[in-house]
Amino acid sequence: GKSGYDHFMLKEIHEQPRSLRQCLRERVSELAGSVSLDVDVDPDGVQFVACGTSYHAALCGVHLFQQAGIPAQAFLASEYATSPPPVDGDLVVGVTQSGETADTLSALREAKRRGAETLAVTNVVGSSVSRECDQTLYIRAGPEIGVAATKTFSSQVVALALLVLSLTGASRHDIAALRDLPGNVQQVLDESDAEEIARAYEGSDAYFFIGRGLQFPVSLEGALKFKEISYEHAEGFAAGELKHGPLALVTENTPVFALVTGDGEQARKTIGNVKEVEARGAPVVAVTDGKSDVHRYADHVLDIPASDQRTAAILANVQLQLVSYHAAALLGRSIDKPRNLAKSVTVE
Ligand code: M6R
Repeated sequence: GKSGYDHFMLKEIHEQPRSLRQCLRERVSELAGSVSLDVDVDPDGVQFVACGTSYHAALCGVHLFQQAGIPAQAFLASEYATSPPPVDGDLVVGVTQSGETADTLSALREAKRRGAETLAVTNVVGSSVSRECDQTLYIRAGPEIGVAATKTFSSQVVALALLVLSLTGASRHDIAALRDLPGNVQQVLDESDAEEIARAYEGSDAYFFIGRGLQFPVSLEGALKFKEISYEHAEGFAAGELKHGPLALVTENTPVFALVTGDGEQARKTIGNVKEVEARGAPVVAVTDGKSDVHRYADHVLDIPASDQRTAAILANVQLQLVSYHAAALLGRSIDKPRNLAKSVTVE
């Protein structure tokens, strides 16, 4: 059942501290300072294939691998076969919650035909993807009933982070960041002002989400979730791309959610983009860990605890999950079963 929550989606958002602990259990040893998985791979490079929310998790995976010095690319599964890249030495990783998505299975089959080794990253034990791939990494999020993927996104990103650390070795800092993540997610859930924000901006013309680096895929994910369950127009952009076109859409009736974490170059540049939208009269909601001064340029702030930059992406995403949920709830939408959508998409 929904354990007292109005919707499975809200229940699943709140399950994240537990589902993340489950993903980490027995894979991270704080004593040994190491990460070990039941997966035996040693790739020269990685190609991800995935759809929807899983594609956004894969884009996060690209960042995590590249930051660790392992070349990585992500492909929309439905586009992979239109111009498949050479696979030599690359591991092709299918990221799919259900393990049954036809587009993803077909991209993996194409990769196999080309001689690639394949790895499934999935939530469902015994799913088609786990039977067809050479190896499987389970994300262990537990069953997800809501059509909108929530807890499985955070567990996919953590599973990919674990995969990177199992290949490159984990520092004390890496291990501490993972250990602190479930508690930090709990803090976001306990203290979020997302409902108030959703109410403040009900009836806007469109909702925009911007971020850089790891926060770029989170912007895409924030917008996907928003449109999927609220049926309102929402778009995610790389913050730096705004001025190359989308800025023309920005008005006083289009709130912009700016994801700004850390206090480095990326934060500084995104704050520059925040000023650009502000100058056009757009309300700004900063999702931030408070390390920069973005709050000075924002109409509202959604706080996340200060943490490692990689886990900050997951924390920012939890805030956006809650904003979407509350926006859709205010509109009385069919949150767990949005119109026109299915939990697993088994046709290409
Ligand atoms: O089961 P999968 O992860 O392969 O599903 C992929 C997409 O269909 C899925 O993530 C979809 O985008 C979600 N409904 C988004 O919330």
